[in-house]
Amino acid sequence: MNICALFGGPHAKGNTATLLEEVLKGANSTGHETKRLDLKDMDIQPCKGCLACKKPHATGCVQKDDMPQVLAAVREADLLIFATPMYWWNLTGPLKNAVDRFFALPFNAVSGESAFAGKKLLLVMTSGQPSASDGREGLELILKKMCSFTGMQWCGVVTAGTNAAPVSQQPDVLLAARQTGAAL
Ligand SMILES: Cc1cc2nc3c(=O)[nH]c(=O)nc-3n(C[C@H](O)[C@H](O)[C@H](O)COP(=O)(O)O)c2cc1C
Repeated sequence: MNICALFGGPHAKGNTATLLEEVLKGANSTGHETKRLDLKDMDIQPCKGCLACKKPHATGCVQKDDMPQVLAAVREADLLIFATPMYWWNLTGPLKNAVDRFFALPFNAVSGESAFAGKKLLLVMTSGQPSASDGREGLELILKKMCSFTGMQWCGVVTAGTNAAPVSQQPDVLLAARQTGAAL
């Protein structure tokens, strides 16, 4: 499979990146192709909500930034990873901005016109709370809705709490992440 990770965190080597890298290493070990896009290093503007991308004969978003690179990677991917620290029970702003801009692609699986149909979605998330499941259910519900509307398959969550110790000092968590990646 082609796996594309959209990394929404601010720290290239922080907790979330460390957890994501284990998932990607696991995926590489079983022959999957992986790509990581660090959104913090890219110019991804918020969606303007102008709907120009949905007009007849539209050729995409009117904004000129790095989003075409993201959308090309999303189109190529069989599996998308949203990798983000939990910010106020949610994705970070940069990742949410990129997801909003998915609007420029066809996304309605009900009408049979979804660029996402058949893809898989995995969430890789760290949070301060030791029990990262505490408070994550709202976001999971949203992502599951997104999956069913766009025709993606929900693959669940790889997660870690970081208040007690950074991810790099949690060998069980790192092993579980690598095993999940290998089993994708
Ligand atoms: C702006 C902001 C909002 C946060 N919101 C939450 C939250 O809602 N719940 C939580 O458990 N931790 C929250 N945290 C803690 C981070 O999710 C946690 O420290 C995470 O592991 C940081 O990952 P990083 O090292 O990849 O940046 C927040 C941190 C910041 C900076």
